[in-house]
Amino acid sequence: MKLVMIGTGYVGLVTGTCFAESGNEVTCVDVDVEKINRLNKGEIPIYEPGLVELVVRNAHSGRLKFTSQASAVVPDAKCIFLAVGTPQRDDGSADLRILWSALESIAPHLSKDSVVVIKSTVPVGTNSEAARRLRDLTGRDVDVASNPEFLKEGCAIEDFTKPDRVVVGVSRAEVATVLHELYRPFLRTEHPFLVMNLESAEMTKYVANCLLATKISFINEMANVCEKVGADINHVRKGIGHDQRIGFAFLFPGVGYGGSCFPKDVRALISVAQRNNIAPRILQSVDDVNVAQKEVLFQKLNAHFHGNLAGRTVAIWGLAFKPRTDDIREAPALVLIDRLLDAGAKVRAHDPVAIDNVRKLYGDKITYCATPYETLDGAEALAIVTEWNEFRNPDFDIIRQKLRAPVIFDGRNLFDPEKMRRMGFHYSGIGLEAHPLADQA
Ligand SMILES: NC(=O)c1ccc[n+]([C@@H]2O[C@H](COP(=O)([O-])OP(=O)(O)OC[C@H]3O[C@@H](n4cnc5c(N)ncnc54)[C@H](O)[C@@H]3O)[C@@H](O)[C@H]2O)c1
Repeated sequence: MKLVMIGTGYVGLVTGTCFAESGNEVTCVDVDVEKINRLNKGEIPIYEPGLVELVVRNAHSGRLKFTSQASAVVPDAKCIFLAVGTPQRDDGSADLRILWSALESIAPHLSKDSVVVIKSTVPVGTNSEAARRLRDLTGRDVDVASNPEFLKEGCAIEDFTKPDRVVVGVSRAEVATVLHELYRPFLRTEHPFLVMNLESAEMTKYVANCLLATKISFINEMANVCEKVGADINHVRKGIGHDQRIGFAFLFPGVGYGGSCFPKDVRALISVAQRNNIAPRILQSVDDVNVAQKEVLFQKLNAHFHGNLAGRTVAIWGLAFKPRTDDIREAPALVLIDRLLDAGAKVRAHDPVAIDNVRKLYGDKITYCATPYETLDGAEALAIVTEWNEFRNPDFDIIRQKLRAPVIFDGRNLFDPEKMRRMGFHYSGIGLEAHPLADQA
């Protein structure tokens, strides 16, 4: 099938590449000419494990192409996927200006039997509005389908090629048949292809992300309570997780969720609920708890140094909003860096892949280190923000030798607190039982 992706970011590039890998002819379009030039040279503008190999292989085979000219490729395409960004407006609602501009750019070039598939995460009603706009722009009915994407950055290819489910919202059954044909290679292990109306598909994406965000904020709030009452969230987590009604997924305490999806999607659904006169009490709390949780590491550091961080150096391990990605959008590390700089502290930071993106924001305000150990030179404390695998088994002797004091604030509970204390560290995680050294700076 001939396909066009409008928007070649995380979602568009992964989707286009995986569809090319399953034998389709795909052209990825982007208004960012620099990005298209790089892709045409075999350079991948984002970090996503396994993606380079797939892009290069499919580009060589001629099944995957890149262009900035939608008009040249849209007329021949059966499905045109919109995978452009849907950022957050100041009031929390989704900003659809990029989506509408992309829709206008393809409308004059659509063939009679093409299907416009909206993969971007969009508020309920957007697909119907897209169909209305396309009717106005083309003078005829154009098929529009909602096909929300559930992939996770860092695991995107695996998620796309082995989806738990594919969700498709349509107004006509024939459109679902076209999309089923496209997804068939990825559904061989009996994963469901769920067909519903446009509104249900749109809501499914938001409800999924909001429930996952709710689990994170819930366990973070419980962790904060545990810390105050002498309980250990790790034990509590196991105590609840073995209950089959609860399970373990997405119940790891930490420093709050970030990334390009959860924060904005929670706020966009808050906005949809409010516009429909529903008070989104749970969602509002999820967002509030998350905003507060991003402050926790700084508060702990500040308390440890009795509010006197000026001139002290703090080492940070992990800048990306989660491991296996270079995405730093709404990353908890950025909040920590801002607070430390405001308090007059110096920051030495390492991340396996996100340093370039952080440098674009902070320039020479912080020191970037090529290895985790380099961050420790002259530092009085280490803060762990992202749970990269390479941080899980460090050489604690080196850490103790390099740090000016053996102080670790771990935002991801990577280590065994007992073991850390036996090794002489002042070790503080999230929701772990307080220990007698906690107040000593
Ligand atoms: N990133 C994720 O993990 C993820 C997962 C599921 C869903 N989503 C949703 O998918 C959508 C895209 O997210 P993303 O992370 O891929 O965004 P992104 O910002 O990485 O990529 C969007 C791309 O669209 C391009 N673009 C903008 N206007 C264009 C136009 N008129 N024509 C062609 N290209 C244009 C931009 O230059 C950019 O390269 C969002 O709605 C997001 O919420 C993202």
